[in-house]
Amino acid sequence: MTPGDFFLLFGIFYQMVQSGIDIGGFWIHLQEPVAAMRRVYFFLDYDVEADRKGMPLPPVRQGVEFENVSFDYPDGRNALNEVNLVLPVGELVAFVGPTGAGKTSLAYLIPAFLTPTRGRVLIDGRDVAHASLDSLRAQIAYVFQEHLLLSETIRENLLLANPQATEAEMYSALETASCLDFIDALPARIDTPLGRSGNTLSVGQQQRLCIARGLIREARILILDEPTAALDPQTENALLGAILRAKRDRLVIVIAHRLSTIRRADRIIFLEKGEVADNDSHDALMADPASRYRRFVELQGL
Ligand SMILES: Nc1ncnc2c1ncn2[C@@H]1O[C@H](COP(=O)(O)OP(=O)(O)O)[C@@H](O)[C@H]1O
Ligand SMILES: [Mg+2]
Repeated sequence: MTPGDFFLLFGIFYQMVQSGIDIGGFWIHLQEPVAAMRRVYFFLDYDVEADRKGMPLPPVRQGVEFENVSFDYPDGRNALNEVNLVLPVGELVAFVGPTGAGKTSLAYLIPAFLTPTRGRVLIDGRDVAHASLDSLRAQIAYVFQEHLLLSETIRENLLLANPQATEAEMYSALETASCLDFIDALPARIDTPLGRSGNTLSVGQQQRLCIARGLIREARILILDEPTAALDPQTENALLGAILRAKRDRLVIVIAHRLSTIRRADRIIFLEKGEVADNDSHDALMADPASRYRRFVELQGL
């Protein structure tokens, strides 16, 4: 081999190796958008919840009724068993029970986030399975156990719940949920953008904001799933007071652990392993030696 041949071959091999490295690098870079695309398509392919073109539900007047309701999750786990309940408008009802008792599942049946496996959920005597989802959910404000805020401003997060809300209504809801103290400290008050999923606020502040967002909907049915977990007792007391004042033409369901919250409810629904073990006021249940609720309160040292 002449020195010229040698350097020619060397050059060719060098270029081939370089191409190999480039292709490898390209392949690695390709993985990033592919992973992102997968997530995007996961959501795009997600089945849209079909609005069942049901009858529009008229404004709620009487309340919610559970009729022999049982619910199994798709994996076969039984969450609720033969629940019979009447929850009239005008009451503050507390769902109480150990973790996993089915409190959240029971509450999810009202806005039809879940559909009963057996039995019916009725609003004013109408099966919610036949009501259009838009008209049903327009009347229900649900404050979730896991709070969800968007990285938009506080104002935009509130308007999401009720696009027609006025400035005064927003501030009144924020005051009720004890949000004004921390909002006053923000640079642009309610026009301050929140970080990703609201993480510029503390967990308690996020939760209070979610409660304000629930209140601003002016819905006939207000469901608060463990709203007070991150609230101090004083804030909680103020919040409950405000809710009690506004509850006349509403049904308020609160899933709660603190006795101070629970005992202010008109009625306690005590759930155990998916069944309603007790259904009465705090005083009546504490006076009943056989009450499961009383046992729970005593064991928990509430
Ligand atoms: N998405 C789900 N899939 C399967 N089982 C679930 C799901 N969510 C809850 N469960 C089960 O249903 C039961 C009731 O749960 P849940 O309603 O969340 O109880 P609670 O709110 O009282 O803590 C539990 O046994 C729980 O493990
Ligand atoms: Mg729960």
